[in-house]
Amino acid sequence: MLLDSYGRTATDLRVSLTDRCNLRCTYCMPEEGLQWLAKPDLLTDEEIVRLVDIAVRELGVTEVRFTGGEPLLRPGLVGIVAACAALEPRPQLSLTTNGIGLERTAGALRDAGLDRVNVSLDTLDPGVFQRLTRRKRHADVLRGLAAAREAGLRPVKINAVLMPGMNDAEAPDLLAWAMEHEYELRFIEQMPLDAQHGWQRDGMITAGDILASLRTRFTLTEEGEQARGSAPAERWLVDGGPHRVGVIASVTRPFCRACDRTRLTADGQVRTCLFATEESDLRGALRTGASDERIAALWRTAMWGKKAGAGIDDPSFVQPQRPMSAIGG
Ligand SMILES: C[S@@+](CC[C@H](N)C(=O)[O-])C[C@H]1O[C@@H](n2cnc3c(N)ncnc32)[C@H](O)[C@@H]1O
Repeated sequence: MLLDSYGRTATDLRVSLTDRCNLRCTYCMPEEGLQWLAKPDLLTDEEIVRLVDIAVRELGVTEVRFTGGEPLLRPGLVGIVAACAALEPRPQLSLTTNGIGLERTAGALRDAGLDRVNVSLDTLDPGVFQRLTRRKRHADVLRGLAAAREAGLRPVKINAVLMPGMNDAEAPDLLAWAMEHEYELRFIEQMPLDAQHGWQRDGMITAGDILASLRTRFTLTEEGEQARGSAPAERWLVDGGPHRVGVIASVTRPFCRACDRTRLTADGQVRTCLFATEESDLRGALRTGASDERIAALWRTAMWGKKAGAGIDDPSFVQPQRPMSAIGG
């Protein structure tokens, strides 16, 4: 088991498959100039599968989410999913993606054993999309979403980040559209994880702002702590249900107390938290012939040191050196 000294158990593993992305979302990456990880430093497909195997067999991990960067850019993705789906015990497998290219791969990913997908979409307006992501790919994302739904990767969830002066007025429209198309929408508060270190607490759109905006058009009924479990999203029934909307208030109402996550970067470092300032190297151990037991022990030690909370609202908070794209969101 992956226990920490605050009594939490990590059963949910986030695996970053690459730090590269084909979008340049303003809250995540700079327009240009970000240094990529060197190819030899990236875990190979086989190394990733071995670490996931150790996680599920030795450490009690039950859910694995592939992310990045953009995981669809990883050439071996379908093979990695298939190999992880064949592990014993079989973990739940999901993917967080910007949806570009999902139109072509959703069926193959489902056949390989992928269970669910989260697609990031912040706006319904192609012009706003281009300003937010610095790329003209809005239509690709919409096609990717539809393909995921048709492939049965349900529930298809949408992640949306609202940025002041950009898409912050769109919350009700995004929710109406998501419900119409049978997607489950979750808003994520903007976190200080951009490569440019431009995040400002005062400027961000809070969960409170998002809920107030949604309530101008919908009646929201809170589902409560029990329904939430260890999930980061607080959820509300919309107009009495069955549709729901989630808000991940990572800054203003963090879910650290119930956090059940452990993270693996594309270069094989364990992170206990998105906001951890330390990492533990598993790649080095892998490449110097360490046994599964030794790697499991290193992973356990790393997780034992997990901090009580991310501390974003704490005056002493220091943004991690790696941006979201290099950690794996
Ligand atoms: C880093 S991306 C990686 C996976 C994939 N490329 C995608 O777009 O979903 C994962 C999620 O993190 C979100 N994200 C990135 N930077 C963020 C930030 N500074 N604050 C909050 N969410 C952020 C994205 O919107 C996306 O939903």
